[in-house]
Amino acid sequence: MKYITDFTVVGREAWGETYFSLTLQHPQTLPPVAAGQFAEVEVQDCREVTLRRPISIHDVDTVRNTLSLLVQIVGKGTRKLATLREGDKLNLVYPLGRGFALRGERPLLVGGGAGVAPLLHLAKCYCARGIRPTILLGGRSADLIPARERFAPYGTLLYTTDDGSLGERGLVTQHSHFDDGYDHICTCGPTPMMRAVARHALQQGISCELSLENMMACGIGACLCCVVKSDDGHRCVCKEGPVFDATGLSQWINQ
Ligand SMILES: Cc1cc2nc3c(=O)[nH]c(=O)nc-3n(C[C@H](O)[C@H](O)[C@H](O)COP(=O)(O)OP(=O)(O)OC[C@H]3O[C@@H](n4cnc5c(N)ncnc54)[C@H](O)[C@@H]3O)c2cc1C
Ligand code: FES
Repeated sequence: MKYITDFTVVGREAWGETYFSLTLQHPQTLPPVAAGQFAEVEVQDCREVTLRRPISIHDVDTVRNTLSLLVQIVGKGTRKLATLREGDKLNLVYPLGRGFALRGERPLLVGGGAGVAPLLHLAKCYCARGIRPTILLGGRSADLIPARERFAPYGTLLYTTDDGSLGERGLVTQHSHFDDGYDHICTCGPTPMMRAVARHALQQGISCELSLENMMACGIGACLCCVVKSDDGHRCVCKEGPVFDATGLSQWINQ
């Protein structure tokens, strides 16, 4: 079931000039939201932006009836969303897409850039099952790994940065604990990072899920602008994803 409804902004936090998060409250009980599902967010009062923008559900609080979004400012729509303040309304269509399957007893979650967003709700869902995941977050520098303090209660937290300003210097796939006997890997972030992580998983025979962030328009499977070429034909990322199993995407991963 999908909902189209107004939320009220009840919290806002920023990380540098690039990232911010919004906490959104609804007067009614929230529906179940699977980790990895997303919302199509309306950008109000912005003539240049007519289409909604897809943003992952970063966090869910079923006691306060709040959802959080973690957003990277990249263009007109996200810049406009960054101007929202407490008390403002925001219209969402949610929960959309297919989320993570919560597989594995010893999962590794790997995120980079805005791709860290869905991993917080994912880590909390694993913890609710009694499993503390390892969470590996990467960025060019420490200030480009947003919201990292929020992850600490929900897993073993590891970092890599290109400049060595946080955690180990290098790429996530070069971390000394990257290959530590995990039985499932979930990844979201820049395409080259996800490809490298998934390639490793396929080579090692570890099950792996990737959350793709293809450009979207309708978000509900009607316009086909978001398709990805899978091993057995084209798949609609907004409806059949955004989370896909690596085994069906081996051609895309090995491009
Ligand atoms: C399922 C899904 C979940 C997402 N979750 C998040 C999230 O949690 N947080 C977040 O910050 N972003 C997320 N994104 C990406 C986000 O949707 C885009 O960054 C946003 O739509 C850009 O809108 P804009 O109007 O600011 O940029 P535009 O003005 O439309 O474009 C500015 C630049 O951003 C690029 N861009 C636009 N859309 C995307 C995209 N989907 N991926 C990569 N580059 C893009 C354009 O090529 C252009 O260079 C998600 C995307 C998808 C498909
Ligand atoms: S965005 Fe329209 S079909 Fe996926």
